[in-house]
Amino acid sequence: MNLNKESGLQLSRRLEGVSESATLKLNATVQQMKSQGVDVVNLTAGEPDFWVPEAAKKAVMEAVHSNQSKYTPVAGLPALREEIARKTNEQQKSLSANRPWKASHVVVTNGGKQALFNSLMAILNVGDEVLIPSPYWLSYPEMVKLAGGIPKFIPATGAQGFKITPDQLSRALGPNVRALILNSPSNPTGALYSKEEYRALGAVLSQSPFGKNIWILSDEIYDRITLGSIPFCSFLEANPDLSEQTITINGVSKSAAMTGWRLGWSVAGEKVTQAMLTLQGQSTSGVNALSQWASIAALKLPESDFASQVESFRKRRDLLLENLRKARKIDLYTPDGAFYVFAGIGKYLRPGEDSLGFAQRVLEEAKVALVPGTPFGDPEYVRLSFATDEKSISEGCQRLVRYLDSV
Ligand SMILES: Cc1ncc(COP(=O)(O)O)c(C=O)c1O
Repeated sequence: MNLNKESGLQLSRRLEGVSESATLKLNATVQQMKSQGVDVVNLTAGEPDFWVPEAAKKAVMEAVHSNQSKYTPVAGLPALREEIARKTNEQQKSLSANRPWKASHVVVTNGGKQALFNSLMAILNVGDEVLIPSPYWLSYPEMVKLAGGIPKFIPATGAQGFKITPDQLSRALGPNVRALILNSPSNPTGALYSKEEYRALGAVLSQSPFGKNIWILSDEIYDRITLGSIPFCSFLEANPDLSEQTITINGVSKSAAMTGWRLGWSVAGEKVTQAMLTLQGQSTSGVNALSQWASIAALKLPESDFASQVESFRKRRDLLLENLRKARKIDLYTPDGAFYVFAGIGKYLRPGEDSLGFAQRVLEEAKVALVPGTPFGDPEYVRLSFATDEKSISEGCQRLVRYLDSV
């Protein structure tokens, strides 16, 4: 068989119109340039540059030596599910005071990504609409399409802090809407909803005739990384009455710097949890046992163990903003969480160009890698990550500003 020759074999129509992950692709290009010796400053990182907690490494070694590495239950190790239920209850005290989550409500998944995918596959039928505030994390619409749904965007502009208003949500609701995806703190904007803001959105759902048929997927993967005066608020902490229709999604990737361990989870009611378990049981089964042991250890660590990382993100954010302000025509918004600045570069675009073209020429001419905003729903923005050292942030911004001043 000639493997290089295009065969006439058909591929699934399911993937038509679904895009490849632009960030993963860009990262591959940057790595390739670096391996060829090109001096690129990389401001694309979607992961913390801190090391995995020592306690997590130790737990893995112990698990290896004591042979705790056989198949685990599809839903995850009981001790891990307990730990996740405990963490979620702590973040949702106004709900858990009366109705605490139990281990049986938790599904441990391969990263937060699989928890989102499981959720959408479990709740959507073909043609169901899913509301997504825009800008959004780029995988949401693609996952919705894979699950047969139709993404419907609610624009959240920089002028409104990249957050949707109750009025916008109310106008977006309708008989075909099956789900709403919320993400706070947000990738790519760093926007963080306060308890009052989440309460106001919850009130719209409670009062709308369409509200009770809508699932809320609350992606809380950046929960620990809050940079300003607004504290993190879990959606259900603000809206305990919506617990039956909310799926909380989280993981250790960003909060414990454990991206490569691929461990996330969903916390939700019995029925949807069972549906997700059926799906996972027939696809990936239980997550890698060693990652689960590591995550139990990471989840047991006190919040204070991570304070210096958060402080460091805060310093780096300020450094990045201070340097970028030197570019006169860039539109900047201060992120309250996560580790990204979503910067408006509309005034620098050439006729017919969008952020993809802009990021390409910045990479080629200024040797700075940025993520274009187009796949996040905004063609006039770029995402700069400050999950990197201060020297790279300063150097990257200086190169960018110098380039922008010269064009
Ligand atoms: C908003 C958001 N949700 C979910 C994920 C997926 O996380 P994980 O790496 O745990 O699959 C990411 C990762 O970039 C993200 O930014």
